[in-house]
Amino acid sequence: VTTPAPDIIQLLLDDHRKIAAMIASLDGTAPEEVPERFWSFTNALVRHESAEELVVYPALRKVPGGAAIADDRIHEQAEIEQALRNMEKMDAQSVEFADAFAVVATAVLKHAVAEESDTFRLLHGARSRSERIELGRRYEEAKAVAPTHPHPMAPDTPPGNTILGPIVGLIDRIRDVVHDHAVGE
Ligand SMILES: [Fe+2]
Repeated sequence: VTTPAPDIIQLLLDDHRKIAAMIASLDGTAPEEVPERFWSFTNALVRHESAEELVVYPALRKVPGGAAIADDRIHEQAEIEQALRNMEKMDAQSVEFADAFAVVATAVLKHAVAEESDTFRLLHGARSRSERIELGRRYEEAKAVAPTHPHPMAPDTPPGNTILGPIVGLIDRIRDVVHDHAVGE
């Protein structure tokens, strides 16, 4: 029995669920585990967004009515990413961090709901199953080119240090690699 290849909508839904689970797991986690988990969350989210910008939104723009929706969704992604960049150097145990993360979490979940209604509906209506499978293959490929960077443990920080680490560098590296991949295609 061969499992049918997943289409782009299935793959995006799976990623949305994984990212939502990461958000839920950060809520109430032990303070010393927050930097590591926040790093993994940012890694997964930016990888997903970058691959969407490369594969999903260009396809959406070709569908009647898709361009305005693509613009709105990309704008939301950029705002979320800027909020993440602003969190670099925050103390993970601070009220400032908790407030900033709550804003990011709400925006990410709202963005996912918007995508699941309009983006998925338009793509499903305008693209055949085989085209959606091909989009899925390209999306997975774009995501896979960005290597996973483990959270850096600063060698000279005292135990219990909960600084998030170089989030801006992480975001830029993922974006650069996915972008170079597109240029090389
Ligand atoms: Fe998105």
